[in-house]
Amino acid sequence: MKSISKRLSVMGAALGLAGILVLTAPAIGGSKAIYDDPIEPQPTPKLNLGKMNYDAFCASCHGKTAGGTDKGPTFISRIYHPGHHGDGAFYLAAKRGALAHHWPFGNMKPIAGITDQQIASIVAYVRAVQKANGLF
Ligand code: HEC
Repeated sequence: MKSISKRLSVMGAALGLAGILVLTAPAIGGSKAIYDDPIEPQPTPKLNLGKMNYDAFCASCHGKTAGGTDKGPTFISRIYHPGHHGDGAFYLAAKRGALAHHWPFGNMKPIAGITDQQIASIVAYVRAVQKANGLF
């Protein structure tokens, strides 16, 4: 009897460990909505402009350095890899909004008054953030 209960507790510990490994899987796996402390890309004048626009228009939901918040997802996720959400998806989302379909945050409303140039700078910044954090 004793050895069975000992074996069960070893199994329990192993399952617990597996659970921790699943919970700490990196955001790049695509299932984590908030990324705690993303790496900032090396600043350049172009990226600084993009960061400024990103911070003004997108960061309230998509988070500082695109890390995500409780109102919107991180972009450091396979879901937003350029091969899955091309640059056009950013223009569409900013101009027309986006229906919730990957996450439980609800819909994204269009961003009033944003220009194509501002979106272009934001896309450049988001791609640099994705690259700095190893997405591609
Ligand atoms: C008020 C919160 C909010 C703001 C501000 C916001 N977003 Fe979003 N965004 C969301 C939510 C919520 C989603 C939906 C995620 C889902 O479930 O797929 C989303 C989705 C997206 C998507 C994915 C669309 C798709 O096709 O799946 C892109 C791209 C995007 N946002 C870009 C931006 C950009 C660029 C900005 C700034 C110009 C911005 N968002 C500002 C909340 C926001």
